[in-house]
Amino acid sequence: MAIRTIREEGDEILKKISKEVDAESIKEEKIQTLIKDMIETMQKYNGVGLAAVQVGVLKRIVVIQIDYEEEPIILINPVITKQKGSQTCEEGCLSFPNKFAKVVRPEEVTVKALNEKGEEIEITGKELLAQAIAHEVDHLNGEVFIDKILPGTLEVITPENK
Ligand code: NI
Repeated sequence: MAIRTIREEGDEILKKISKEVDAESIKEEKIQTLIKDMIETMQKYNGVGLAAVQVGVLKRIVVIQIDYEEEPIILINPVITKQKGSQTCEEGCLSFPNKFAKVVRPEEVTVKALNEKGEEIEITGKELLAQAIAHEVDHLNGEVFIDKILPGTLEVITPENK
């Protein structure tokens, strides 16, 4: 396993649309290693989620970990099938390490995906998990949170005001 370099603001790859993963290829070492590296990279930087595009790989894979005492969630080719309500969230992104702002997200999200074994899974998440799922699926579509923040809510953390 290895920590991968996180692509940051200004890197054009963040605006690209990621490609579906061929279900047959999920068990291949290349994909398995990518998933493990994504988890390790997310954890190293204390993130709650990471999309493959953020480590420079345009594949529809995300990892999410709300609670570090639990196992991370791995979503391959995720599709949001249901969403309910809305919540105003404080949000950040490992690709925008010094920026935080408020974003409106669904309050509840249901997502269908394949897991790291290639099995079909369905997860319904509320609150922070719903926010994380929506944020990470956006990444796969080339969308970043900074483009959907509520006006006037951007906070930029500099070494002086940390
Ligand atoms: Ni992000």
